[in-house]
Amino acid sequence: MSTATSVVSRASEVKCDHDLHAFLCGLEADSSLFEPEQLRERLIALDDLDAGFGGFDSENSTRCADSRIHQRAKAIRTRLEAANADLYQSVRSDVVRDGQPRTLLQWLQDAASQNKSKSPLPGLGFDCRDELVSGVLQLREPSEPNLQRSPEMAPYQPTPVRHILHLIAATALAEDDVFVDLGSGLGHVPLLVSMVTGAESLGIEVQAAYIASARECAQSLHLSRVRFIPQDAREADLSSGTVFYLYSPFNGSILTDVLSALRMESRRRSIKICSLGPCTRTVANEAWLKASALPDTGRITVFDSQ
Ligand SMILES: C[S@@+](CC[C@H](N)C(=O)[O-])C[C@H]1O[C@@H](n2cnc3c(N)ncnc32)[C@H](O)[C@@H]1O
Repeated sequence: MSTATSVVSRASEVKCDHDLHAFLCGLEADSSLFEPEQLRERLIALDDLDAGFGGFDSENSTRCADSRIHQRAKAIRTRLEAANADLYQSVRSDVVRDGQPRTLLQWLQDAASQNKSKSPLPGLGFDCRDELVSGVLQLREPSEPNLQRSPEMAPYQPTPVRHILHLIAATALAEDDVFVDLGSGLGHVPLLVSMVTGAESLGIEVQAAYIASARECAQSLHLSRVRFIPQDAREADLSSGTVFYLYSPFNGSILTDVLSALRMESRRRSIKICSLGPCTRTVANEAWLKASALPDTGRITVFDSQ
């Protein structure tokens, strides 16, 4: 490196260290950041720390030359994460003790009231409600799905929490409903639906490893009204469901078969089908179903059997 280049890069290191120092001082001085209700602010601070220090876990994690600054940043990150863990644990204790996630509901409501529009933002982006629910459920990621997927089967992708809350509100899901997630993945949709509404919930998932994670979570939270069945949705017993959910879990002939099984069910009782993602277009073409609003692949669409 030439002398001129090294002087320029040293100057930018000093400027960088100065900015990071100021940023850390701001975080250290803000004691309210560590209070439980400041989850959103903590998540923003954690993102900012990762951005400022280039992530802490990789080899080239530090962007600052001064290792003391890096140590301070790490210490703040540890405190922020500990405050989040305390919050998640207190919500878990609430659920286990009372069977009712009162704190969680309060949190989800508060976060929703920050979104002025009535319908949730479309698309698959996540927000602080997803962090909260994931911190509370603590679902274990299974190493590898153990079943070779057919091309018609979608890989796992979780529904953002705001869409689950929208589903609950739009179907007026209540304790006497039976909610069925066809292709439930790690199970956070039936888990959250049951916690929030008290309804019986069922997750059908073809990957047995995902079912194991979902069952562990239900057990650890003492949720007795949620069940998970390792099964292909085409073979599932749909006879108890009142509200079915499809987050584009499969397409082609599998979707056709499952929709025709649901149609058979609708001859015995009225049912609701909720969909998200591209499968909404196929569901909307079923003449026996009526959409309650204009079908939209980026949001939950609710269909009633007729
Ligand atoms: C897009 S993910 C949706 C996960 C979950 N419903 C959610 O909304 O968070 C689709 C899931 O469907 C599962 N799946 C795919 N084909 C299936 C089938 N034939 N029967 C049951 N589950 C299936 C996949 O393994 C995957 O976990």
